[in-house]
Amino acid sequence: MSDVDKTPEEMKAEVTAEFEKKFGPLGDGKVYFAPGRVNLIGEHTDYNGGHVFPCALTIGTYAAARKRSDRKLRFYSVNFPQNGVIETSLDDLVPDDAYGWTNYPKGVIYTFIKDGYLINEGLDMAVYGNIPNGSGLSSSASLEVLTGFILRDMYGFEISNQILAIIGQDSENNYNGMNCGIMDQFAVAMGKKDCAIFLDTSDLSYEYVPICMEGAKIVISNTNKKHELTNSAYNTRRCECEQALEELQRVTDIEHLCDLTDEQFEKYKDAIKDPIRQKRAKHAVYENQRTIEAVRVLKEGNLKRFGELMNEAHVSVSKDYEVSCEELDTLAEEAWNVDGCIGSRMTGGGFGGCTVSIVRDEAVDTFVKQVGEAYKKKIGYEASFYVVSIGDGPRVV
Ligand code: GLA
Repeated sequence: MSDVDKTPEEMKAEVTAEFEKKFGPLGDGKVYFAPGRVNLIGEHTDYNGGHVFPCALTIGTYAAARKRSDRKLRFYSVNFPQNGVIETSLDDLVPDDAYGWTNYPKGVIYTFIKDGYLINEGLDMAVYGNIPNGSGLSSSASLEVLTGFILRDMYGFEISNQILAIIGQDSENNYNGMNCGIMDQFAVAMGKKDCAIFLDTSDLSYEYVPICMEGAKIVISNTNKKHELTNSAYNTRRCECEQALEELQRVTDIEHLCDLTDEQFEKYKDAIKDPIRQKRAKHAVYENQRTIEAVRVLKEGNLKRFGELMNEAHVSVSKDYEVSCEELDTLAEEAWNVDGCIGSRMTGGGFGGCTVSIVRDEAVDTFVKQVGEAYKKKIGYEASFYVVSIGDGPRVV
């Protein structure tokens, strides 16, 4: 059984047992959970003031945590047992490349303190996630929001889940050097069972849209190619968009790229002097409009059109935004050939990670077999497939 299939009870029991082995009785400590996320449509729009449509998953990150009476911080991950217990303190909150994963909880603690929340006692924390690592299903946002949730609970801070998302993003941007938008942390912190979140990233207004796909399932296909977003093309894309925005602002009064409609973009696009930047901006504008349409047709019950828009979205991230890769393209293109696959596209930042597909119930087995075989043949190693459910945001378990 892979970790993805473990129940919350099993995850809780294991993380508690590991905590007690490393740190002694959990006592008045608790076990907490924060989900991973998958984005259904609206990619690379969240730092361009556009719309996104992610949902939280039932898989995520679990932590057993207990407050200490001194200023020590001790971390242990069931996913990285070779690292052992990593000890630091509230007085030494600097990023450490040697133990990469601890930079997420440390970054959140650092950000809380920077924002003026009083944290004078450390904590012991054992973490166990069942989001496949490096899969682009937001294991880092999950750990960030989880840490914020734990701090809020331990110290009784009065802050909303939305603020937990913003703190998570701040720590990812400024402590971990990944210039991400708000989508992942927002989806994790604000997740709601069986609903996707239609979020307008220009003002953080949002709407929960029930995802009741009669007779179809959400299937995630994992390239099993690790993606490394920090220090990568992600930050470059963001810069390209910012430059394109500046060029457009010389000819039209907009605050974000996604303020433009497709027609307006076509009218003003020549203000963007570089063809690559023009393609990047085109993706952002069209993807935002696609996302708005996708949510509208979904509400009308038109799953077929929703699927077509997912497919178009993939072509756009692949050809115009160029954040896909051979592995992701193979998964998406093979999915499009399967009868009963309604739509398929890469999800998340790209360069590896996963695709998300909507597949008719009766076609799921064929989908996994057909796409899996074609992928193995072309890429040389196996993809993994998960039929996922949409779950709630962070909580005590
Ligand atoms: C990553 C980032 C998000 C978002 C997506 C692309 O997941 O963390 O903020 O930009 O890529 O849509």
